[in-house]
Amino acid sequence: MQVVAVANRKGGTGKTTACVNLAAELGARGHRVLVVDLDTQGHCAIGLGLGLGGTPRGHGGVHQAIADGAPAQALEALILPTPVAGVWLAPADTRFEHGRLQDAQDGLRAALARPALRARFDLVLIDTPPSLDALLIAGLSAADRLLVPFVPHPLSFDGVRQLARLVFAVVSRNNPGLRILGFLPVMAASHVRQHRALAAQVSQDFGSARMLPPVRMDIRVAEAFGAGRPVRDYAPRSRASEDFHAVADEVLRRLEAAQAAS
Ligand SMILES: Nc1ncnc2c1ncn2[C@@H]1O[C@H](COP(=O)(O)OP(=O)(O)O)[C@@H](O)[C@H]1O
Ligand SMILES: [Mg+2]
Repeated sequence: MQVVAVANRKGGTGKTTACVNLAAELGARGHRVLVVDLDTQGHCAIGLGLGLGGTPRGHGGVHQAIADGAPAQALEALILPTPVAGVWLAPADTRFEHGRLQDAQDGLRAALARPALRARFDLVLIDTPPSLDALLIAGLSAADRLLVPFVPHPLSFDGVRQLARLVFAVVSRNNPGLRILGFLPVMAASHVRQHRALAAQVSQDFGSARMLPPVRMDIRVAEAFGAGRPVRDYAPRSRASEDFHAVADEVLRRLEAAQAAS
């Protein structure tokens, strides 16, 4: 089982969209994928067709499981099947009070280390909130690999820089094995000169080998999300569907190379 955190210190950079659509792509290829929603907005449930009310009443969420110092099997107990083939969800707790997480930064790491869980899934995708350090650190601490969606725009670029600082802190504190899986340009319009210049800047700062193929701007992405379906299913011939397919190919290639090397 490999664990990938999806993160950027800025909101609206396509993290949740990437999580849901990559999970669907990999699920469709026969991988057993668990999406862990660390963002208390709980939007992964919407994109995966469960709706915000899709979590059974009193079911709790991943935040409760990792914050209460609850036994780690609590995470396994709250995993829900989704209508998306090959994809399960550990839903967010949308009523979670953030103060309760300060001491639980290693909670998710502990929960994902359990052998029963590692046997049940091939891949875990962790969606993270942009700004709550404790939750973001919990996600980064639990991950083997980091995927960074960014909008080729100056403000998003700041978010990438700030994230890099947090990643260094987590690597030296408790997760020395954390590696960058890739930088994913989203909502890219390659004809815009500024976008191209900024993507080139990221590729220069972090290495062009770390860049993933871009997901172009496509209204179908938002439509599909609102309809609770991955874009590969909602609009299979759209350019976003084509792009996420190509990103999934490259993500799998990198994960397989990482596994072979370990
Ligand atoms: N490739 C794309 N084309 C058009 N809109 C997109 C694309 N990717 C994401 N979006 C839209 O951008 C907004 C922010 O995306 P989201 O995944 O929620 O970001 P984050 O999780 O980083 O806050 C959403 O409304 C989403 O539908
Ligand atoms: Mg999000």
